[in-house]
Amino acid sequence: MLEYSKQVMELGYLLVELLSVALGLNSNHLKDMGCAEGMMLLSHYYPACPQPELTMGSTMHADNDFFSVLLQDHIGGLQVLHQNHWIDVPSIPGALLISNDKFISVDHRVLANRVGPRVSVASFFNTNIMQTSRVYKPIKELLSEENPPKYRETTVAEYVPYVTEKGLDGTSALLHFML
Ligand code: OGA
Ligand code: NI
Repeated sequence: MLEYSKQVMELGYLLVELLSVALGLNSNHLKDMGCAEGMMLLSHYYPACPQPELTMGSTMHADNDFFSVLLQDHIGGLQVLHQNHWIDVPSIPGALLISNDKFISVDHRVLANRVGPRVSVASFFNTNIMQTSRVYKPIKELLSEENPPKYRETTVAEYVPYVTEKGLDGTSALLHFML
């Protein structure tokens, strides 16, 4: 786990550079916002389920971090919601990021499997533990008259307790921050 997290942090620094450039920003922009500063590793163990049609491995949600990197085994079950259809994600899913809805944190879920166990390791890039007072808001370089801010500013100290309290209830935590 220690070696894996070291490598994923390295990957995170590369990803925030690529995401910054993809947004038309300076390559250091997201790194300077602290998007790759902290990472939380969550390991999942989904036991084989005799009646998968009666339950879920993990109910629908969108991750609430800057972006996530997921390592999953060969069992399958991860799905993303695309145009109202659940699509299987057979391999490693991509990075998730929120920036005034430019990169949308995709809704996803995990089905229960008759076979298993299934094991996955989610790496959440966030600064939850540091609870920084840094203010996060839609990136001003990306805003214009045609693309006004959709979300108000917030801090990790405000955002994290809110999403933790809300839980995986199938609704987006972002609604609370919408202007
Ligand atoms: C998560 C998650 C998916 C999986 O931890 O947020 O969506 O495949 N995990 O375990
Ligand atoms: Ni998730």
